[in-house]
Parts: sequence; structure tokens; C-alpha cells
Amino acid sequence: MQIAVPKEIKNHEYRVALTPSGARELIGRGHAVVVQAGAGEGAGFSDADYEAAGARLEPDVARVWAEAELVLKVKEPQPEEVARLSKGQTLFTYLHLAAEQELTRGLMESGATCLAYETITAADGGLPLLAPMSTVAGRMAVQAGAHSLEKAQGGAGVLLPGVPGVAPARVTVIGGGVVGENAARMALGLGAEVTVLDKSIPRLETLDDRYQGRMKTVFSTADALEEAVRESDLIIGAVLVPGAAAPKLITRAMLAEMKPGSVLVDVAIDQGGCFETSRPTTHAEPTYVVDGVVHYCVANMPGAVARTSTQALTNATLPFVVALADKGWQQALADDAHFAAGLNVHDGQLTYRAVAEAFGLEYVEADRLIG
Ligand SMILES: NC(=O)c1ccc[n+]([C@@H]2O[C@H](COP(=O)([O-])OP(=O)(O)OC[C@H]3O[C@@H](n4cnc5c(N)ncnc54)[C@H](O)[C@@H]3O)[C@@H](O)[C@H]2O)c1
Repeated sequence: MQIAVPKEIKNHEYRVALTPSGARELIGRGHAVVVQAGAGEGAGFSDADYEAAGARLEPDVARVWAEAELVLKVKEPQPEEVARLSKGQTLFTYLHLAAEQELTRGLMESGATCLAYETITAADGGLPLLAPMSTVAGRMAVQAGAHSLEKAQGGAGVLLPGVPGVAPARVTVIGGGVVGENAARMALGLGAEVTVLDKSIPRLETLDDRYQGRMKTVFSTADALEEAVRESDLIIGAVLVPGAAAPKLITRAMLAEMKPGSVLVDVAIDQGGCFETSRPTTHAEPTYVVDGVVHYCVANMPGAVARTSTQALTNATLPFVVALADKGWQQALADDAHFAAGLNVHDGQLTYRAVAEAFGLEYVEADRLIG
């Protein structure tokens, strides 16, 4: 199969959809990989790396798209990319269509088959192609929080692990899912005193079991949140209510109870944020201060570590890409119901119920198209 990897064009997107190692795997199975010249640069992969893997480098973006049967991307296609898509092509990328009516219509009009990373499911109920980025964001959240606690960043001047004779900082993580567990784990590793709040008892049981009491697990109630606000030096927001905006768990009034220079890191900002005073920020200016509390609310945290994120993303997507390339999309999806959950658009038809409902468009069961 002819597989294309264009350079990402969304503002400040440095990731690329396939590493040279991933390209090598596909080429080894008899597929042809065309990479747009410079596509891997932001993630530290040179054109020469792709060439060494057996890929063909193509400087002309129009040709990269035109010759492809399967297009691999990271971010949702931008308008000029949608215009390059055509019937018979398969697009595999993050789409997040429920928030993008114009993009949804554009993809339907293209006639292409569009598979979204984020709607593919797993047997354990997780989202295997979202999890790697949540892992990255969770781990980064502690780095970002630790840095924000420094005096020069507006923080209280507190070192997370403390030093002998000085108590460590208190870190509270709200939401103990993928982001939350990874944040908590990093904070523990740095020697902080860590508490995780969640609404899910099974989730708290898992964490308790896994970390053998080294982090406190607390059922998330208004009382628990108030205590966290009073006691914590760093609070990381990592909640997710699937399909809904994040609940505002810390209000502006509650900031007055926080220690001056304490830090809020709102990882859930991409779902609207779980603190009332959160607003999206960028890596160029990641923090701002409200009522003496430092806020870090970067909506695309993994973008700052494009190399690690690219490798983690390719590791997770590659088995699906191999299936698509080896079998074609229909057979690959017919063989794997979890992969089939990734089908959002095919030949003008919308196959993802939540997106159809969001925009009042007709919904067609993916199964009817897969056969
Ligand atoms: N900013 C970024 O760059 C970035 C990157 C990756 C993920 N995210 C976001 O991080 C958030 C968390 O993602 P995830 O993959 O960890 O989700 P997840 O589903 O694995 O975990 C979410 C957890 O929140 C818990 N929860 C729900 N409501 C709660 C409440 N009121 N109080 C306490 N806990 C509650 C759930 O029980 C669950 O355990 C999502 O909004 C996701 O989109 C942001």
C-alpha cells in the first residue's frame, strides 16, 4: 500500500505521525512509505533517517497527498489538508470531530474514509491511542508544577522533595486515571507527599494496590477538595467525564484558601478545565497568576516533548497502521471491533454516533459499511 506522512501544519505542532523505525516496519512488509521532506524535523528525525529506513522523501506536499492510499497524520486536518483528501483515500489521525462541525462536513464531502485515533477502544474499556498522550501529559504536569513553584515563576519557592530537615511539598492530584496516575507517580518519585482524589472506588483500589500505600487515596467530595485546597502546594487537575465538559471543582472563591504561591496545573484544560479560573495557555506563555495562585493550563502539553510524544504515539498506532496497510480498512475493521470504533466518516457518511448527534446529521452504523 502507498502510505503518506505529511508534515504537520497546525500551529506549533512538532510531532510527526510515523518514526523512521515505524516506516521501516511498514516497508519491511512490502508497503511504500512517502514522507514529506522535513516532516520529522520537529521531533528530531531527519530526512536522512527516513531514507535510511527505506522511505521516499517528497518535497512537494501536493504529491505527498495525491499519491497516497493511506495518509497518516497527528492533528486533525487543517482546511488546506481537507482540500487535498479525495475519495478512496484513508486518513488515520486525531480528529476530535464532536467539536468541529466544519471539519466534519469537509471530511464528509471529501469522500475519504476517516479513522480517528481517539475513538478506538480497548478490551479494558480504555482508549489505547489517547493513553500515550495522557501518559506524557501526566508526567509533564509534575515537571511543570515543580518549575512553577519556583520563586521566579511566581511560585512559593518550594522544592517538591524538600531536603533533610525540611518537609516535602504536598501534591494533590484530582482524577486518578491515566494522567492522574502518571502525575502521582512522578510526584512520588520526586519525593513529594502525594494524595489522589477520584470518584471511582475501583480506580482508588487499583492505585492503593499498585503503590502499596505510598500515596494517599481519597474519595473525591467537597470536603476532600476543600482540604486539598488548604493543604496543597501543588494541585494537578486530571479529571475526565467522558463526553462532557470537565466539572469546575475548584472555584475562584476557593483560591483565597490556598497558600500564596501555590500552583494549579489544569491538564483537563482541553475539556474546558476543572478549575473555574483556568483558561488555555500556550508553551510560549504557559502560566498566569490569579489571586496569588500560579495557573499552568497548556492545552497541548505533549507538543513540548515532540520527540518522546512522537515515539509514544507511533508505538501505539503502528499495530493499527500495519493492519490497515496489510488488509485494507474494511478487513482490518471487520477483524477488530475495537478498531472499528475508530471509523468516523466513510464516503460522505458519518459513522460516529456522538458526532452525528452533536450536529444533527444522519448516522450510519459502521458495521453496515464494513460488511
Ligand atoms: N492538556 C493536555 O495536553 C492533555 C493531554 C492529555 C490528556 N488531557 C486531558 O486530561 C484529562 C484526563 O485524561 P485521562 O486520560 O487521565 O482520563 P481518564 O479517563 O483516564 O481519567 C479520568 C479520571 O477522572 C476521574 N473523575 C471524574 N470525575 C471526577 C471528579 N469529580 N473528581 C475526581 N475524579 C473524577 C475518573 O473517575 C477517572 O479516573 C482529560 O480531560 C484529557 O483530555 C490533556
